Amino acid sequence: MSSVSMRVARWLTNQWRGASALTLPQQSLHRPPPLSRPLSSRAGVSYPLQLSSVSESHASLYEESLKHPEQFWGDLASRRLRWTKKFDQVMDCDMRNGQFKWFLGGSLNVSENCVDRHAEEDPDRVAIIWERDEPGDTQFITYSQLLESTSRIANVLKREGVKKGDIVAIYMPASPLLAATMLACARIGAIHSVVFAGFSAEALKSRILDASASVVVTADEAVRGGKTIPLKSIVDEAVGGCQCVQRVLVSQRTGAHVPMTPRDLQLEQAMSEVSDSCAPEPLDSEDPLFMLYTSGSTGKPKGILHTQAGYLLYASITQQYVFDYRPGDVYACVADIGWITGHSYVVYGPLCNGATTVLFESIPTYPDPGRYWEMVERLGVRQFYGAPTALRLLLKAGDHHVHKYDRSSLATLGCVGEPLNDEAWVWYHSVVGEGRCTVVDTWWQTETGGISIAPRPSPDDSTPKPGFPMRPFFGIQPVLVDDQGNELHGPNVSGNLCIRHPWPGMARSIYGDHGRFMDTYYRPYPGLYFSGDGARRDGEGHYQITGRVDDVINVKGHRIGTAELESCLDHDPRVAETAVVGFPHDIHGEGIYGYVILKDGVCESDEEVIKGLRNIVRMQIGGFAVPEILMIVPGLPKTRSGKIMRRILRKIAADRHDELGDVSTLADPSVVEKIVQGHTKRN
Ligand code: WTA
Repeated sequence: MSSVSMRVARWLTNQWRGASALTLPQQSLHRPPPLSRPLSSRAGVSYPLQLSSVSESHASLYEESLKHPEQFWGDLASRRLRWTKKFDQVMDCDMRNGQFKWFLGGSLNVSENCVDRHAEEDPDRVAIIWERDEPGDTQFITYSQLLESTSRIANVLKREGVKKGDIVAIYMPASPLLAATMLACARIGAIHSVVFAGFSAEALKSRILDASASVVVTADEAVRGGKTIPLKSIVDEAVGGCQCVQRVLVSQRTGAHVPMTPRDLQLEQAMSEVSDSCAPEPLDSEDPLFMLYTSGSTGKPKGILHTQAGYLLYASITQQYVFDYRPGDVYACVADIGWITGHSYVVYGPLCNGATTVLFESIPTYPDPGRYWEMVERLGVRQFYGAPTALRLLLKAGDHHVHKYDRSSLATLGCVGEPLNDEAWVWYHSVVGEGRCTVVDTWWQTETGGISIAPRPSPDDSTPKPGFPMRPFFGIQPVLVDDQGNELHGPNVSGNLCIRHPWPGMARSIYGDHGRFMDTYYRPYPGLYFSGDGARRDGEGHYQITGRVDDVINVKGHRIGTAELESCLDHDPRVAETAVVGFPHDIHGEGIYGYVILKDGVCESDEEVIKGLRNIVRMQIGGFAVPEILMIVPGLPKTRSGKIMRRILRKIAADRHDELGDVSTLADPSVVEKIVQGHTKRN
């Protein structure tokens, strides 16, 4: 064995014990949890997994992960995952053709890795703490209970004819049954497509149709922030036009009476009729695990496809090392499971590690802006992972909401989804974390499967820098390129953020459209993965994300394609043309600004039209995508060849009228003046 690989092996043995070695029964969380002390209390226990002790070798291990990925990832996959059949080849990847295969010839089952092996070792350890909408209305689900509900749902799905490779759409509130449904799909080889429960019936329908889902799993209602959302009736509206849907499984969240049709089945009732055991199906490493829709700069949302082994390994290793998760910790990622953060860091990553993961049903301001910190105190949360938009909102609400609660259990404070501005970073670090917690600003995407740039693990104890995700995770080599594809070397450069080498968690395709996958991610800069984001590398080689470089707006950490919004607004018969751009927003990161040209002869007032347009977006996409500002304009700034100059519209929306540049080459320069006047008037 070479000295480098011996070093890796030693480090793996000492530090990255297989996930099965994560169990330290004496301090694992049992049910009911001892609420009199912080659940994460670790007094007197020594932790062999501490990252600080790997500090010297971090840089060389990072090098190793890039130079000898087969050995690096092969060792990890062998140690951390339970295989039905060991793989014979670590990777076969081609960045030019977008073909990626990891752990070839291997077979395993993701639900077995996430549930069974922990249930065997420590059945009473709490897998999920379900923090329901009302504070303190908390349920503890052990690994053995999770195994039972996963197996029962898997048996229901099988009974209803779901087979390996079939797609199951899930439109559910944040609940253990949602996690169990995902795991049940994984158990039998079905592909889940979770649709965020804030999407409208129309958006749900288009996702069901795109995937030809045969089964939809939902609940009577969702509860968030004291309000109920009628999920079942939204599903009824959505599946009305979907021939492919054979069955709708309806679970009970509130117990509200919902009309049932012959197509519907009550989930808990069905679960009680089937066996509580279901053998996990051995699946090929590259069989699809799930698809998740995300917006791009063009066309309809795309179903990003992830597969089994590589995704699971990457989610689990990042969850452990970026957050410094240790056995016995209570870990809380408050993202909704309907987005990738919830998939990787509420469900798959932590459960693969045998962790206790909090599943948060509520919102950050319910019943007041102290909710997160009250929960941190009550549950003894050690790692907290949230969104910058929520932090900015809470910052404005005042520090007393934070000070009221004991946060001494906290050690790692993470965030994701959009840039964490300096003010919010400092507040998170000094007020929430009392200056002693590590803030990890993590950059990644639905497409990367897991965290790709983050301050931890780190080669030293350097303090994370405000506004910087900082350094690439093992296996990730960020590359900055200019628009012509020239690589920008050295420090203090900004460019389009790409990644050079393949990594196990990367998306494999867009469901049903590999051509679009190639066009979006691999053709812009051949040989590289293109993220769609811009980034800057500073004098110390650390990375800062500068925002999307394509026509995607990031509102409250949700990606919204301008093309998708424009085509939605264009549906209104009164509308001639629209252009949608993002603008800086204090709380949401970005807001949506829509410029609308009406057809001749529209007799309604501008206010009436705008109200109607807002409603169309709410119906077709969902409330979260409704533009903050819609303005009726007489024309749009276009080049002589007819291309809309979005750059100018963005400057106007951002109140940077003095930076409009030369507009004389526009087909009709006077239109800019008129739009500026309209914008100034509405302010
Ligand atoms: C943005 C979320 C700045 C970025 C996991 C990316 C960020 C998109 C950060 C992915 C960050 C994510 N700093 N921007 N730390 N993290 N983003 O697919 O624009 O929902 O491309 O995945 O969020 O959003 P997605």
